[in-house]
Amino acid sequence: MFKEEILEKKVGIIGLGKYLPEKRLTNKDIEKIVDTTDEWITERTGIKERRIAREDETTSDLAVNAAKRAIENAKLKPEDIGLIIVATITPDMFFPSTACIVQSKLNVNHIPAFDISVACSGFIYGIAIAEQFIKSGAYKHILVIAAEKMSSVTDWTDRSTCVLMGDGAGAAVLGEVEEGGILSIYLGADGSKGNLLEMPAGGSRLPASASTVEKRLHFLRMEGNILFKHAVKVMAEAALKATEPLGLKGDDINLVIPHQANIRILNAVAKRMGIDPEEKLYLNIDKYGNMSSASSAVALTEAVEQHRVKKGDTILLDAFGAGLTWGAIVIKW
Ligand code: ACO
Repeated sequence: MFKEEILEKKVGIIGLGKYLPEKRLTNKDIEKIVDTTDEWITERTGIKERRIAREDETTSDLAVNAAKRAIENAKLKPEDIGLIIVATITPDMFFPSTACIVQSKLNVNHIPAFDISVACSGFIYGIAIAEQFIKSGAYKHILVIAAEKMSSVTDWTDRSTCVLMGDGAGAAVLGEVEEGGILSIYLGADGSKGNLLEMPAGGSRLPASASTVEKRLHFLRMEGNILFKHAVKVMAEAALKATEPLGLKGDDINLVIPHQANIRILNAVAKRMGIDPEEKLYLNIDKYGNMSSASSAVALTEAVEQHRVKKGDTILLDAFGAGLTWGAIVIKW
């Protein structure tokens, strides 16, 4: 394909789907597990409840449910998909990848499938990868799934983290579009600060042992306070890097759909962007908490379902997470 053709090709989201486990865990329920209160959680985070997957429900199950809905929403069949990308930090197991398990459960064997580990920025990175593969002509339709069973890596004795996380999945089918589509993508990472949010054991550095289990090293650990400041800074920066090359200002964006980590982070980002959070910030953190990569995928799906995103709108996806990683995408709907 000639370079001009690649540049001219418009890639967009042509189908969306979500899946949330049935079980709701409210702040009042968590009051019975750790020393916390509904008031503290609501005020400090904006979260009222989160969904928790069944014990026998795996990340690939959540992913497949969201994927089926996204494929149907795109008016396609699983066999129309050319590539599967799953963004997750809570895979069913280390290997095979969750994407391969999803491929098998969707009965579309032989198409390529792989996982990406980008934590909360995973949906944005997945869309960025898919866009390039479609632009190059390698694949026509790509399924990007963001799925997490965060409850499986949550330390239910640590009140500073267990109140934050939830389970869920969102999926998007990407393909060529005639109008609009993805206008700009900005990705970033800072591996030197990876220790601020990590699951220390279970990998090659600290393989699973009785000692790692006893020390609770197979759970997520977070320096929330330091991360908070980074999150505000890099999410605002990412928004600027994605919008500035297009000559867009806060006013030109119809809706910002951010990763839902903390309502105070999002209000601070909106302030830096000069947008009215009431009008232009999509929030569903109260219902689901932080679902890592799945948060922005579910938020986008719900924003479209609720007609908060209309044809012709310019929207901004913006995320920040472990790695550290971050990214923003501008899409004309
Ligand atoms: N209930 C009651 N008190 C609590 C709780 C709780 N659940 N958790 C912490 N506290 C206490 C602390 O012990 C501390 O008490 P002290 O002052 O007596 O020491 C006090 O509340 C304040 O604690 P902070 O950590 O300073 O609280 P903060 O206002 O920073 O809120 C939070 C904590 C919600 C974690 C916030 O820092 C945050 O949201 N950080 C960013 C998270 C994030 O963006 N993560 C990245 C994405 S996630 C991913 O990639 C998977």
